[in-house]
Amino acid sequence: MAIDPIHAAAHFLERQLKAKPVVAIILGTGLGGLAKEIDEAISIPYEEIPGMVTSTVESHKGRMIFGKLNGVEVVAMVGRFHFYEGYSMKEVTYPVRLMKHLGVQKLMVSNASGALNPNYEKGDLMLLDDHINLLPGNPLIGSNRDDEGPRFPDMSHPYDRGMNQLLRDVADRNKIKLHQGIYAAVSGPNLETRAEYRYLRIIGADVVGMSTVPEVIVANHIGLPCAAVSVITDTCDPDNLHPVSLAEIIEVAATAEPVLTKLIVQTMAEL
Ligand code: HPA
Repeated sequence: MAIDPIHAAAHFLERQLKAKPVVAIILGTGLGGLAKEIDEAISIPYEEIPGMVTSTVESHKGRMIFGKLNGVEVVAMVGRFHFYEGYSMKEVTYPVRLMKHLGVQKLMVSNASGALNPNYEKGDLMLLDDHINLLPGNPLIGSNRDDEGPRFPDMSHPYDRGMNQLLRDVADRNKIKLHQGIYAAVSGPNLETRAEYRYLRIIGADVVGMSTVPEVIVANHIGLPCAAVSVITDTCDPDNLHPVSLAEIIEVAATAEPVLTKLIVQTMAEL
């Protein structure tokens, strides 16, 4: 087996940090603005970090930002890796293992998704209660790292119940509309056909997107409690489907971003 660069990467980062991060945050497509709220920030481009691949999607700038968010030491990933970019599942999820190595105790994930649930509107937020993995792979395939987690990790509650309760409470208190539902992960990069949207709705998904599930599987494997919030960037009504572009997805994500930022910042203090 190839040598795991994770120790070198952790050492490289620790040398530059004033404090250990406690919470990790992964920011999805068009959702990087939260990084501006991080105080005393140290920004490290992915290409400098041993073992990290670099993000190829233009909307993802590719850096880890360390600092304080609402008083809590965090590491935020601005830009994540997607399977459709050609990375292996292990490459996509390497940063999650790395951030756990740095000492983080919780993981908060955001993403952009298309709504299958007819009650959801563009710009709404949805808390992930569960997911359906339709990706053609799994980051845990291969020999198991028994030092990191079990061969057959339990997935009865992939999203931490305590974190989800807190996110719902914070949303209520701040009058933020927050749906709760099921995220289906597909590989992309094409968007879905009408028949695929119908199928995804029939199998129980409320939204569909191209990320998050690999990171959440690894977080569960390594015992890192996690929560995820999705920004609905388009509505996918198979009987009335309009073409949607990446530019539109990014535009809607940018509009919803301040609300998502508020939700995450307010939640930080009580995590
Ligand atoms: N499908 C898949 N991924 C997405 C979508 C979608 O409609 N919208 C945003 N990410």
